[in-house]
Amino acid sequence: MPRQICAISPFDGDCKPTRVSLFAFGTGRPTLPFPHPWNYHEPIQILEAYFHGADAESGSGRHNRYLEVAGFAPVLVTRDPGIIRAITTETGDHDGQFDRDTLPSTGIARATGKDTLLFANGATWRRQRKLAAPSFGKTTLFQPEMFHEFAETFRNTIRQRLDALRRHLHSTGQNHILLPLEPEIKAVMLEMLANNFFGAEIAYDEIRNRYVPALERTIDHIVRDTVVNRLGLPIRWLPRLNQRIAQAREDQACFDELTRLVLARRNEGRGLWRQFKSDAPDEKLLSNLKVFLAGALEATTSFASWAIAHLARNAVAQEKAYEAVRDIDDYTPENLDRAAYLNHVLDETLRLTPSLYFLPRRATVDTWIVTADGRKMFLPKGTHVLLDIWHANRHEDHWGVQATGYPALDFVPERWAEMAALGRGSKESLHFGFGHGPRVCPGKHLGQLEVGLVVGAFVKMFKFKADNPSTEAKAGVSTKPRDGTLVDLELR
Ligand code: HEM
Repeated sequence: MPRQICAISPFDGDCKPTRVSLFAFGTGRPTLPFPHPWNYHEPIQILEAYFHGADAESGSGRHNRYLEVAGFAPVLVTRDPGIIRAITTETGDHDGQFDRDTLPSTGIARATGKDTLLFANGATWRRQRKLAAPSFGKTTLFQPEMFHEFAETFRNTIRQRLDALRRHLHSTGQNHILLPLEPEIKAVMLEMLANNFFGAEIAYDEIRNRYVPALERTIDHIVRDTVVNRLGLPIRWLPRLNQRIAQAREDQACFDELTRLVLARRNEGRGLWRQFKSDAPDEKLLSNLKVFLAGALEATTSFASWAIAHLARNAVAQEKAYEAVRDIDDYTPENLDRAAYLNHVLDETLRLTPSLYFLPRRATVDTWIVTADGRKMFLPKGTHVLLDIWHANRHEDHWGVQATGYPALDFVPERWAEMAALGRGSKESLHFGFGHGPRVCPGKHLGQLEVGLVVGAFVKMFKFKADNPSTEAKAGVSTKPRDGTLVDLELR
């Protein structure tokens, strides 16, 4: 306590963070540096509050800041890629390693249960990770037969949607239409996940009109619940106080129903259940299934929406992406791999607009970390760490003209080819879009497959232009274009 009052830093080393104050009246800081009921829906601004004025600093505080309030553990926010890499590498179940901080996901745990790959730490996390690994592996997913099934589902849905679109264009006598794409992307992502990955057979209309809206509202509820419901009451315990709570209960019942539909395919060994070797009873799998369904839907929708939103504002990049996929009829892993420009578009998308904009960690003991270039930082036990991917990836110091040849805030897929030509290896160009280290995203290959398919096929079928020239972000569990990916579409 005296240390906090005298503002003595609990951190040490040669790259110590700079302290930020709790209140900064009259400085123009965008908001308070912690979530509360009036600012929780603008989490990117909360991160920005930590770096307000930081660009005027030249020391380690330029990218590393901390908040300490008497009676609470310190909070470290870093947008320093070296520190982010050191901490993600040192996250795991070994003694002294960082945990994933569960504080920002309390709302998720109330909706899905705590016993999940996302929420668990230590030995429980390790056990779950091993169990899930075979189903998510690249060799499993990228088998021609499996891949073909994904592509077929996608093709069927797209065929039906295209027919509907053609009928609409015909009836209006126009050749283009203004459409918010987010709901379309969500439906096709959930369809591939539920029907291909988990082998269910749910009709597209059910997915589009029932399950997607229920999951959307559940995810919104999760974000609000994390900040507002500090009592920690599960929804089923809350009385029907008002319309919102009644709706949340209904949505959760719908989410349960969807989870049971995909679980029912386990006994038949459908989809990726074939690779899942465990004698755990069905009931034990429910929580993780919910995390996979809601998490994967959020992240893949965010990733694909951003890619389309960027291309909709970059006609040249869109044309180059079209050239890369124009001759692809079969979306095989090899063909997608060969579409180099499309892959640069996807990398640039996750860099500039990462779906998960911060990664939460907790120091389990007093910890020294060392970066790849030999810098050291001491973090006291209990520190809450926010690895601020969003601002790390958008800072000129790390991704700007000097480092990559182009301004950090511009969407330039070409920077990836140029970095490779300059010999800047993958270790120096980590965008952390799928995380890094032992807790790297297990759904990375599935996500890349789905997003590659959707964005590749979309670019091949349509010319599209954004309605709004700026790409503002909204952020909750993940980030998305604030305008719902509103584009003017024209069939090629
Ligand atoms: C394509 C879009 C996706 C993106 C951008 C993405 C991003 C991420 C990131 C950044 C993390 C690391 C979080 C951290 O370090 O704290 C993560 C973890 C995770 N992701 Fe993904 N993800 C995607 C798709 C998926 C899919 C399709 C699934 C499952 C079906 C999935 C399931 C998970 C799980 C369970 C974790 C926690 C893993 C652990 O802690 O060991 N993700 N994801």
